[in-house]
Amino acid sequence: MKAPDEKAVTEFPPMLRPAVPADTGALIDLAIATELFLPDEAGFLRGVLDDLHAGRSGAGHQVQVWADDRTSPPVGVVYFGPNATGDRTWDLLWIAVAPDRQGRGIGGELIRFAEARIREAGGRLLLIDTSSLPRFDATHAFYLKHGYAEVARVPDFYSDGDSKVIFAKRVEA
Ligand SMILES: CC(C)(COP(=O)(O)OP(=O)(O)OC[C@H]1O[C@@H](n2cnc3c(N)ncnc32)[C@H](O)[C@@H]1OP(=O)(O)O)[C@@H](O)C(=O)NCCC(=O)NCCS
Repeated sequence: MKAPDEKAVTEFPPMLRPAVPADTGALIDLAIATELFLPDEAGFLRGVLDDLHAGRSGAGHQVQVWADDRTSPPVGVVYFGPNATGDRTWDLLWIAVAPDRQGRGIGGELIRFAEARIREAGGRLLLIDTSSLPRFDATHAFYLKHGYAEVARVPDFYSDGDSKVIFAKRVEA
């Protein structure tokens, strides 16, 4: 019989798998569909994913996707990596679920996966930057539901009236 911690680390749905280069187009579409990136930022995002697959993103950076089966494009993504300046501090850099698939537990599986991998890697603290715009209210609710706390706000960070909101969670075992 498995210990509870072992189960939490190892048991994930088969729809979760690491991103591969062939996913890049679908992940860019996903980023734009969820309005996290503008269409003219597609080139930037492609560069980020190319760097990841070429091993240029720094040790520990990972992108995990949710795809319904082996031939389907991803409908969910989570990107996380160690923070270069904190002690065992990690950043959740990107999480998104296709608009027509939101609210059905995929995001929950993605964030649970990231936390488990970070915990396995000895991570201590997980930080998430998000926006204060009202359209992110449901995203804030998602983080609160998963045990994150708002720890800081930087007024007008992204633009006037659009503050950076930082959520944090202790993830160590
Ligand atoms: C935030 C996001 C990743 C959550 O993924 P998800 O698969 O929709 O979330 P889950 O189904 O696992 O969890 C549902 C919970 O998340 C919250 N939630 C956030 N967005 C939601 C949505 N569009 N529909 C329903 N619930 C949503 C609710 O609190 C909900 O809890 P409840 O069912 O008790 O009301 C996803 O909604 C998304 O991609 N949003 C747009 C992009 C985004 O904001 N990314 C984060 C940028 S910082």
